[in-house]
Amino acid sequence: MEIKIAPSLLASDFLHLEQEIRRAEDAGADWLHCDVMDGVYVPNISFGFAVLEPISKMTRLPLDVHMMTICPDKYIDKLASIGTASVTVHSNAMDPERTALTLRSVREAGMRAAVALSPKRPAEELAPFLPLIDMVLVMTVEPGFGGQKFMADMMPKVTEVRKMLDHINPAAYVQVDGGIGTNTIEAAAGAGADAFVIGTASFRSDDMKEAVSRFRSSAEESYRRDREPSV
Ligand code: DX5
Ligand code: ZN
Repeated sequence: MEIKIAPSLLASDFLHLEQEIRRAEDAGADWLHCDVMDGVYVPNISFGFAVLEPISKMTRLPLDVHMMTICPDKYIDKLASIGTASVTVHSNAMDPERTALTLRSVREAGMRAAVALSPKRPAEELAPFLPLIDMVLVMTVEPGFGGQKFMADMMPKVTEVRKMLDHINPAAYVQVDGGIGTNTIEAAAGAGADAFVIGTASFRSDDMKEAVSRFRSSAEESYRRDREPSV
């Protein structure tokens, strides 16, 4: 079990992106979570390749790209060409056949493939994709905006997804995204999440290094306590 902490760039100061990404590196982040929004799949527009490409050249952090767009398959080649580490597509952004093809091409291009479930999407929707993925993202807010309130009622879904993966694909991560921070990370880790997107609570903290290491240790502790049998 290895906990992954992914600060979400959406919560950074866009006027000082380079400094902000260095802050995340120095804080000990594992991945840099990048939210791509098209204003169609979600009611907001964030950033695209004009921003991602220069970032990919300046950081050693693996890019964890969360595609909140219709037709995410259009961008797989481009994502691969800039050295993206992980691509997440939403379960209902395309039809299931097209999603499966997309996940295969993400992996063929050498990237990790992930499927995201928005709050209203059930865990069963993952069934056809389980052997094709390296991560499931369980959204703990409606996708589209940072700084929203964590939905604790998504925790049974986290546990259900973890169990589904334990049978078929135990190496895959269960990631949570939205409202993760001091008061919520323990519940998510206890439910079975091992990868954490943290926007506001990382970039907006005064001491990001302290925040990231605190989040990591509370996640490790809760994940172990609630999931691994004590000896
Ligand atoms: C929301 C995005 C998140 C967002 C999280 O649609 O997917 O990644 O940046 O921000 P916080 O941690 O502030 O909820
Ligand atoms: Zn995200």
